[in-house]
Formats: sequence, structure tokens, C-alpha cells
Amino acid sequence: MFKGLSIFPATKEQAVESRSRSYEAWGRPFGMEMEGYLDRKNDYGGYEMAKEGRWTTWVLAPRGDPETLDFMCSCETLRRETVVSTQAGSDYKSESQVGYGVASVFTPPQNRGKGYAKHMMRLLHWVLAPASSFSATFPEEWGQPPAIPEGFGTGVVSVLYSDVGREFYKAAGPVPGEDGWVVGPHVITTWNLATSSLNASNDTASGWRLLGKEQLQELWERDSELIIDETPSNLSSTNKKAFTFLPRKGLGEYLYRRTDWFVNKMEDSPKYWGMESKLNVGNTFVSWSYEMYPGHPKTLLVTRLRCPRAMLAELISVLVGYAKELGIDKVQAWNLSDELKEECSKIGGDSVDAEEHLASAKWYGKGDSTVEWLNSEKFAWC
Ligand SMILES: CC(C)(COP(=O)(O)OP(=O)(O)OC[C@H]1O[C@@H](n2cnc3c(N)ncnc32)[C@H](O)[C@@H]1OP(=O)(O)O)[C@@H](O)C(=O)NCCC(=O)NCCS
Repeated sequence: MFKGLSIFPATKEQAVESRSRSYEAWGRPFGMEMEGYLDRKNDYGGYEMAKEGRWTTWVLAPRGDPETLDFMCSCETLRRETVVSTQAGSDYKSESQVGYGVASVFTPPQNRGKGYAKHMMRLLHWVLAPASSFSATFPEEWGQPPAIPEGFGTGVVSVLYSDVGREFYKAAGPVPGEDGWVVGPHVITTWNLATSSLNASNDTASGWRLLGKEQLQELWERDSELIIDETPSNLSSTNKKAFTFLPRKGLGEYLYRRTDWFVNKMEDSPKYWGMESKLNVGNTFVSWSYEMYPGHPKTLLVTRLRCPRAMLAELISVLVGYAKELGIDKVQAWNLSDELKEECSKIGGDSVDAEEHLASAKWYGKGDSTVEWLNSEKFAWC
């Protein structure tokens, strides 16, 4: 049944069609109008995340008619800078590699339940990673392997955030019997501002500098350099290999695209998107985004947090002070280190396992799939 289908990078028209199909699911519920949701120029609003071929829409379509607008289903990928660290004897080796985030997996209602999305995801591995990384050759019953477009086929890892449980993406491996994307640890720390006993501080003038959106790029650039330097020493004692994504080159800004739509329309839109310590510039900061959709609790989402344990309580109390001024209901952070989570528990931050957006990874590099994902914070979401 699948022999006649393959995965193809979308034409511009297919990319627009893909967006229009998912508008009811991911546009309208978030208060977006169709025109703002469609990406007619196919450049993601000129954002850096789409430059240099970083962002691609894929379609599952008949081999004989790959450009049809009547394709079966679609998804998107975002190429991201990835650092892989390996323990070699008593030394650590760090390498810059290519990784991907997979987003917007969507089958229109009339095509659902026919195995299309599962097949598209199985084929996606074959365009993102080298064939040598899979446990067997391309299954004959799927026909010819997909053509690998220029610039693809060298990925070391791909990740996604499952909203359809643990099994669907795991079952979509590159060959029968090999896992696809496997859900990893994913803990969300939340401060409910209405009930939290945390003392909010408005004393931002003293030790902290609030940052506008335009300053985030520079922050992530510096942070990326620090991540590159420190990754080897952050390997845990049980794992010999780890990867991390870097927030620069458009990854950190992905989340902001959806936010821009409603923030730009607000009469009194938030001025600040980050904060750094004046005393410890570069090494103590937090960046954030907002979820202020109609009908949803107003949430301040921490996208990246770099902070020594001793300064966390002060940082959070200043952050909460600002969030309260904006009428925010909750502050959330993803996958903080164990020591920061422990510190959070003393200052009203509850950490629980995520129930949606389950962070899932498929490792294509050498070594087994117990590779650790470092810095799996909200900035890496797509
Ligand atoms: C999820 C989705 C992409 C599946 O597409 P599809 O082409 O119907 O998928 P397939 O036919 O390959 O597989 C269907 C399987 O997905 C499962 N599935 C679909 N929606 C699901 C959900 N919300 N939760 C858990 N499983 C789900 C079905 O139960 C079915 O399982 P089965 O094979 O054990 O019977 C499609 O339902 C869709 O577009 N949904 C709305 C958008 C969405 O949620 N995308 C995923 C974001 S992470």
C-alpha cells in the first residue's frame, strides 16, 4: 500500500496548503487570523530560524505526482546546531553536528487512520540521517528509499514534542523492529502566582537588568558559546555521551513567532523578555516568552535559565514580581537541573512530569540510544 508513496520537500504552494490545513487546530484556537497563520512567502516571516534552509515542510505524496496539493499529510523540520560530547577514556571530545526538530505533524481529518502519518515519519528518518545509522536496509515493501535533498542526510539526532502520547512516534522507526522517537525525561516546574507563597520582589533596579526582545539574540549567542565550552563537563556519571542544542541561529526565537501575533496586537504589550544579573553578566540570566491566548491561563514561559543555585531565589522573586505586574497566572520552566529543581521546591516551584508536549528523541549517531539530552529547556521546543 505504501510502495507508491514517498516523502518530498514541499513546494511553496504545498507549504501554504499544509498551513491552511492545520489552521483550525493550531491557528484559530490561539486567536490567530488565517492571514497571519499562513506563511505565503514560505520564509517564516523572515525569521532567522528559516534562513539558510533551516526550515523545511515535508509532504507524503504519490511518487508519480509529488507536487500535488492533494498530498496525504505533512510535517516541518528545523535544522539546529547540535553539540555532541563523548567520553573517550578519561578525556571528553566535543563535536559540532547537525540535529533536527520535527514539528506540525498533521493529517487532514479525511485522511486519518490510514497509516499515512506513521509512514511519513518512518520515511523522515531516511532523509534526515545517513542510511548507515539504521539497523537494517530500507524495507522492500516501502518501495525505493526517498531521495535525500541537498543539505540533508547527515543528522545525528532528531527530536519532537509529542501531543499524541508515547507510542505513536516510538512505533514510527526507520525499519520494522527499530524504535522511532522515544519519550525522555520531561519535568515542568510551575509557580502558580495566585497561590504561591513566594515573596515577589519589585526591586529590579538593584541587582538585575531587564532585557527587551531585541537583546535576546545577543544573550543566546553568548549562552551558546558557554554551552559549547561546558558541555563535556556536564556529562552525567552514568552516561558516556550527550547532546545539546544551541539557542542561537534561530532556534531560541521559534517560540516567539506564535507569540508575536497576539503580543503585537496588545494595547499594552510586555516590554521585557529577559533579565540578567548586573553582578554576574553572562552567567546569570533568564529569558522568557508569554502564552496569553484567549481562554488559557496567562503564562510566562522560561525559555532558558542559567543561574547558580545561590542566586536562584532572588532571580525567581524578581521574575515573579514582574510577572505579577503583567497579571500573569503562572510561571513555568522546563527540565531544570536537579539542583535547581530542589532549590525551586523551597520557593514555591512545583515540579511534575509533563503530560503533553512530551520531549522525544531519535538518536542516529554512534553508540546506543541512552544518549543524554542536555539543556532540554523550552527554547528547544518546536
Ligand atoms: C496525529 C495524526 C497526525 C495521526 O495521523 P494519521 O495519518 O491518522 O496517523 P496514522 O494513520 O499513521 O496512525 C493513526 C494512529 O494514531 C493514533 N492517534 C491519533 N491521534 C492520537 C492522539 N491524539 N493520541 C494518541 N494517539 C493518536 C491513532 O489512535 C492511531 O493508532 P493505531 O495505529 O494504534 O490505530 C492526526 O490524527 C492529526 O493530524 N491530528 C491533529 C494534529 C496532531 O495532533 N498532530 C500531532 C502533534 S504531536
